[in-house]
Amino acid sequence: MNTNRVALVTGANKGIGKEIARQLGQAGFTVLVGSRDVGRGEVAVKELVADGIDAVGIQLEVTDAASVRGAAGRVEAAYGQLEVLINNAAIIPEGDDGVLGIQDGVLRAAFETNVFGLVAVTQAFLPLLRKAERARVVNLSTSLASFEQVGDPESRMSTVLTLGYNASKAAVNMVTVMLANELRDTGILVNGADPGNCATDMGGWSAARTPAQGAAVAVGLATLDADGPTGHVYAEEGRLPW
Ligand SMILES: NC(=O)c1ccc[n+]([C@@H]2O[C@H](COP(=O)([O-])OP(=O)(O)OC[C@H]3O[C@@H](n4cnc5c(N)ncnc54)[C@H](OP(=O)(O)O)[C@@H]3O)[C@@H](O)[C@H]2O)c1
Repeated sequence: MNTNRVALVTGANKGIGKEIARQLGQAGFTVLVGSRDVGRGEVAVKELVADGIDAVGIQLEVTDAASVRGAAGRVEAAYGQLEVLINNAAIIPEGDDGVLGIQDGVLRAAFETNVFGLVAVTQAFLPLLRKAERARVVNLSTSLASFEQVGDPESRMSTVLTLGYNASKAAVNMVTVMLANELRDTGILVNGADPGNCATDMGGWSAARTPAQGAAVAVGLATLDADGPTGHVYAEEGRLPW
């Protein structure tokens, strides 16, 4: 049995997820690098291991119940418990548009990965989180899920027409609050992390922030002390308005 603290990051083969894995590894965790594609996961694990991280690949397609169940079973067999779950995997589906333009299937696809997948992963790993001494769950969020920011016509957020992404991440915020409430007596802290606009495939390569800067917000919430907050969403500058 591995005696290190263990963290799982979904969608960690690239982007912010890979940097979250790196920073958790630097903080002393054994990091399970979730990737829906085994080959892409292996490439990321190789890079992280070469950088001195205790990284292990794990196949995890968040919309595939068998994959989620299989991953949870393998983590239980190898480690017995899980200290940190980072729900990072997400998509902005092709054709994501405003309310007047979006196709039904596109809206559904965003929710399949960003909400239904996230809840399925959380449910599957919760028994292992309960076995850890002070587990933490971090759900990646965004200012595009903030009603206050999207609702402000002066804000850049009000001009981004990705209903599937925005609405599914707003739903993730509700999952965060409700899970925090449901786990309030367990010592498990649950928060959302807004990494800010980072240069990745999703964020666009001209974004001002690096994936490592975005990752730091999530890592801070994954390593909160026992008296830390639960049930909120944080960006680098502090709590994000709902
Ligand atoms: N970048 C930004 O500016 C920004 C801003 C705010 C919030 N965020 C949030 O930060 C998180 C990471 O974003 P990112 O910019 O790093 O995105 P990214 O570069 O597009 O990476 C997304 C990751 O999620 C994985 N993924 C997608 N669908 C999946 C599925 N069904 N099952 C398992 N893995 C899946 C991808 O795997 P594949 O490589 O196989 O596609 C990839 O590893 C997301 O939750 C995003 O909403 C990002």
